[in-house]
Amino acid sequence: MATRFMIMPARRPTNFVLLLMSFQIMFGLLHSVQEWQTISEEENLEMERQLKLINKPPIKSFKTDYGDIFDCIDIYKQHAFDHPLLKDHKVQMEPKNIPKSMMEGESPRLLPNSIKCPPGSVLIKRTTKQDLFMAKQMNHPKSSRFRTTDGAVPSSFAFATVRYRKHNFGAKTTMNVWAPSTSSSQASMSSIWISNGPSEDLNLIEAGWAVIRPLYKDNYTRLFAFWTGGQKNKGCFNYVCPGFVQVHREISLGLVLNQISVYNGVQRDIEIGIFSDGEWWLKYFNQFIGYWPQKLFFYMYGGATKVEWGGHVFGPGNEPTPAMGSGHFPKDGLQNKSAYFKDTQMWDSVHLIYPQPGQLLAYSGRPDCYEAKLTPGVAPNPMDFFYGGPGQCNL
Ligand SMILES: *[C@@H]1O[C@H](CO)[C@@H](O)[C@H](O)[C@H]1NC(C)=O
Ligand SMILES: *[C@@H]1O[C@H](CO)[C@@H](O)[C@H](O)[C@H]1NC(C)=O
Repeated sequence: MATRFMIMPARRPTNFVLLLMSFQIMFGLLHSVQEWQTISEEENLEMERQLKLINKPPIKSFKTDYGDIFDCIDIYKQHAFDHPLLKDHKVQMEPKNIPKSMMEGESPRLLPNSIKCPPGSVLIKRTTKQDLFMAKQMNHPKSSRFRTTDGAVPSSFAFATVRYRKHNFGAKTTMNVWAPSTSSSQASMSSIWISNGPSEDLNLIEAGWAVIRPLYKDNYTRLFAFWTGGQKNKGCFNYVCPGFVQVHREISLGLVLNQISVYNGVQRDIEIGIFSDGEWWLKYFNQFIGYWPQKLFFYMYGGATKVEWGGHVFGPGNEPTPAMGSGHFPKDGLQNKSAYFKDTQMWDSVHLIYPQPGQLLAYSGRPDCYEAKLTPGVAPNPMDFFYGGPGQCNL
């Protein structure tokens, strides 16, 4: 099979709108973090009140070497159940109807052996004021901060993805992990993303790794997830708003991924999966971390219709854009050099199935800054996806 490489222009507005929808949400966030100083005493008190609501009394807490605090929370008392739709939700400890073979194998530890929550509790990264401040901005998805007219600095974003339109109950992939360089107000994210619904009311679940400087105030690469159930709902990061039911005692969203790939050297992978057995489960290697109950989604009862894999970057519009993936273009070298998604498969609720190569679409919003590329994979895997670039573009 010949190597295929497609860069498609944004032909149909719907594609573009879909992307903007969720990016716009995150964008607003990143941009507004710069206005952190402008917060009033009243707002500060309100945030403290909210934090009390979100951060349930811990059974035990840990501070990592990276300065993050993780709490062990009674599984039944976690913030997820403050969601009005989850009042009578019965906690599921593991997925139903998912083959046990999916839970076999090893998953590298992210925390020292000493960090493990006692039975009956789950590990959850403690929400900070910074998290809240960003979440607060999500209340106004319509006030497009994209093109700010109030004299504030406009935001910029760019993406390079591979897209697959196919009915599914989830997908999995293996992606190498990098630490793309960013300025203190930029973010660079790499993820798998499952969605359904009309563009103006998109339902989506996204998970992967990211460097989000304005949020964490550091340049570590962390595990992250983002979701929205549509219905004019703002999107949600990790545990900031209620919804994601954590079940794992040792792996939390927001954890630092300390094994980073080396350019022209050893590659460090993570395996990420999103699988539906009714609820939408998040899987890290062979471990199910938790799930989004299907009730949270308006359009994802009968599965999803689209999967994307790729990178997206954000930042203020007055700075050159950050690096994506490894910071190198796929065209400048693939093995050990470029960011990838390998061994990608879709879940049809019974089997894992490789995507049909002819229906995969590589797409870059700015091919001069970031590239997305499909290449034949090792059989039976028909395709590997490579993406990324140095950025440094003015958008
Ligand atoms: C991350 O920050 C540290 C210290 O601030 C710096 O030495 C390092 O080069 C940065 N890494 C990247 C990839 O930007
Ligand atoms: C990639 O790196 C690995 C480990 O360092 C090495 O064994 C392998 O030969 C490299 N492959 C290429 C194509 O450079």
